[in-house]
Amino acid sequence: MCGIVGYIGKKNAVDVIYNGLQKLEYRGYDSAGIAVIENGKIERRRSVGKLVNLQKNIKSNKIFGNIGIGHTRWATHGKPSEENAHPHTDCSGKIVVVHNGIIENYVSLKKQLQKEKHKFASETDTEVVAHLIEKYYKGDLLAAVKSALKNIEGAYALCAISCEDSSRVVVARKDAPLVIGLGKEENFIASDVSALLQYTKDVIFLENGDVAEIKENSIKIFDTKNKKVTRAQQKILWNAIQAEKCGYKHFMLKEINEQTQTTQDTFRGRISDEENKIILQSVKLTKEEISNISRICIVACGTSYHAGLTAKFLFEKLTGIPTEVNIASEFRYANPVIDNKVLTIFISQSGETADTLAALRLAKEKKSKTVAICNVVGSSVSREADNVLYTHCGPEIGVASTKAFTGQLTALYLLVMFIASKKQTISKKQLAKFIVNLRDVPKKISETLKLSTKIKEIAKMFQNTKQFIYLARNINYPIALEGALKLKEISYIYAEGYPAGEMKHGPIALIDETMPVMVIATKSKVYDKILSNIEEAKARGAKIIAIANKGNKDIVKKSDYQIFVPEVDEILSPLINVIPLQFFAYFVSVMKGCDVDQPRNLAKSVTVE
Ligand code: G6P
Repeated sequence: MCGIVGYIGKKNAVDVIYNGLQKLEYRGYDSAGIAVIENGKIERRRSVGKLVNLQKNIKSNKIFGNIGIGHTRWATHGKPSEENAHPHTDCSGKIVVVHNGIIENYVSLKKQLQKEKHKFASETDTEVVAHLIEKYYKGDLLAAVKSALKNIEGAYALCAISCEDSSRVVVARKDAPLVIGLGKEENFIASDVSALLQYTKDVIFLENGDVAEIKENSIKIFDTKNKKVTRAQQKILWNAIQAEKCGYKHFMLKEINEQTQTTQDTFRGRISDEENKIILQSVKLTKEEISNISRICIVACGTSYHAGLTAKFLFEKLTGIPTEVNIASEFRYANPVIDNKVLTIFISQSGETADTLAALRLAKEKKSKTVAICNVVGSSVSREADNVLYTHCGPEIGVASTKAFTGQLTALYLLVMFIASKKQTISKKQLAKFIVNLRDVPKKISETLKLSTKIKEIAKMFQNTKQFIYLARNINYPIALEGALKLKEISYIYAEGYPAGEMKHGPIALIDETMPVMVIATKSKVYDKILSNIEEAKARGAKIIAIANKGNKDIVKKSDYQIFVPEVDEILSPLINVIPLQFFAYFVSVMKGCDVDQPRNLAKSVTVE
């Protein structure tokens, strides 16, 4: 939620910041702004709506500077408007601030500052930070930011500059991400690495509570106790091309098509050929610790939650460990019963989702052993968990998660098999068979991707539909939820996923000829049951789209449209079955003229509660 970028060096800060903001636009796109120091004065441009509006503004009203900050906003406090767009200034216009997060005590701070004659120009929580820095500013921006922060409660990643102290950008973070990019005679700051990739691969992730002073040639970092500290420098393996559309019309389409490669990247190096072994070097759980696990508790949000629901079937079937799946925003306030025998698994593409991070901290307080499944290297969840399993999918830019989901599923398969083999709840033969099947999945995904033209034709028939039901059973039931979520997110069609057996307990009342039903009917132990559910829906007038295996002749008679996917082992079928649903949502969205990559009201990284 909200992206921030900062720059100090010899380049035109406006270009660097604008390019960075473009890469962060998926974090918010209600309004955007840039401020630089030009001829000893702060110059600021802000525009409502997407970044292109800011670009037009800057083109007609040029600014230039070698030091600056920028922001792309997802509104929390105050509607999207130019007044509420960042950067925000103090009364004098000499200090500017950009912020991602929520200042929880801003109302009382604002009242106090107004009493002290500070004049506010926006409805945002952020503006209090600019005025607080002004209050404490005595010629040293770093000292003023540190003093201001003592008053602030809530979450923040912020950057501040002052035209009276133009040799440095001062930044701070607490419960919102911030990364410093290292250059030669220049340094960068951003909410995440995708904004930096075109300039540098060398980065420093700030720790929670850090405040840093960033100059052209130096970086000083102070921890929560105001002690000067060194944070490790890391090299990012992603490249700038991965964050480009590469000829695809949308990031989502590119990311769907990347899944042959990304699933392979998730398991590469984690399967030993000779011994048929799963090797998870970053998961340090010993055999004894694994045998002591009494329960597994998975916590996540959105699409990542659906990956967790799928994993429940796998953990219970293959490890025999009771497994529950929780939505992070519920888990953190539910007094969960957790102790040191519970293994908690946190799934998050970004690794920055505020609720997932809070849930992880709660689990750690309760002494649970924690594993994170993350895509973004160096993210907060990945750094704070005891163990981390990266999905290695490369940057995911489309707001609707696709390749990260199949990456999460792949990582979860590996974790399940790792635990099952340590616990010896699966035989060597079973493991060997699983490995062969998993290795075959990228090929099967590649075959599935070829179905896009057929799926586009089917999508055409449903572009004006107002509602949809998605049905599946057992291990594919979470895939029905995920398919419905994809359609809702990007095409604004009301869609609900149900376990097919639950139809008779309410949802069937909704079915008539205006309610199409998407059904996952691939080979499984519940295939016959699904066929009955299809009949029930069809008898009530619903148009049926069935996802079935190649060669299934029966389904042609029972459904109106068919998407024939290649057959894989039942436990791996979610990895294949989700792909037609991603394509379907994509094509409907494009046909409806929706903004596929940046759907209304959403943001990719939800860093506020
Ligand atoms: C947002 C995104 C979803 C994502 C969810 C969880 O809602 O739009 O695509 O699934 O957050 O994000 P995470 O980064 O924790 O997986």
